[in-house]
Amino acid sequence: MSITIARTRAELAAAVGDATVAFVPTMGALHDGHVQLLKHARPLGEVLVASIFVNPTQFAPGEDFEDYPRTFDADLERCAEAGVDVVFAPAVETMYPSGFDTTITVDPGPLGSILEGAARPTHFRGVLTVVAKLFGLVRPDVAVFGEKDYQQLTLIRQMSRELALDVEIVGCPTVREADGLAMSSRNIYLTADDRVRAAAVSAALRAGVAAGPEGADAVLDAAHAVLDAAGITPDYLVLTNPELGDPEPGQEARLLVAARVGKPRLLDNCALTIGATKLGS
Ligand code: PAF
Repeated sequence: MSITIARTRAELAAAVGDATVAFVPTMGALHDGHVQLLKHARPLGEVLVASIFVNPTQFAPGEDFEDYPRTFDADLERCAEAGVDVVFAPAVETMYPSGFDTTITVDPGPLGSILEGAARPTHFRGVLTVVAKLFGLVRPDVAVFGEKDYQQLTLIRQMSRELALDVEIVGCPTVREADGLAMSSRNIYLTADDRVRAAAVSAALRAGVAAGPEGADAVLDAAHAVLDAAGITPDYLVLTNPELGDPEPGQEARLLVAARVGKPRLLDNCALTIGATKLGS
């Protein structure tokens, strides 16, 4: 089946019909990580829809909205390779028919103001609002998001559950470069030197995982040591439980890091089990 490009609600509805829908929302600039999301989603619905929309409301003034890479033709090729049936590429007016100031927004609640939300206070309101709108337009049965943006994934799961949106949210493991760097559309902003240093971000997570059996403090110390050695000061490096609450000794946990390396702010995270030593003890 050849790919259909839908730009309006009517074109989208005509392209999807009554089929079950698997959906991968994106902002374009597709890389191998997105291709994995699309391949993961392919068998989950009769029709696979990918959206390409650089959402203005998740960028604060002074962030990279204008500069965000836009590579529509290459994105279409990647979508076709991954078996996408419909690319939904709406205009801003389709997504925000009443403008930005009067639009009803989704409040992300307390989870939206920690970690990424502390650094970017309006970001998750923009993300959840556009994802809710996309769900309303695409009407997916299942939607696939990357674990790389772990807080985003957690919030979207919570939104779908608490607002009874009836969309199954599936997380897909982070896809990495050979040296461990998590793939991201913003990696293109790294200079050659910064690209080498950037590998320390995922190396810090691996060091943390290796120290897991020794307890929470050892995890954070090991990860900090790797970042220090690379001259990287993280915005945050935290250990949480899988829902981003306090970690429990002896339980599954999540180690999350954000650090500016040159221009881009790099995010990464991983699952681990921490030994039975209390954090801070
Ligand atoms: O992860 C992204 O690319 C964006 O935040 C998303 C989910 C497509 C919403 O604009």
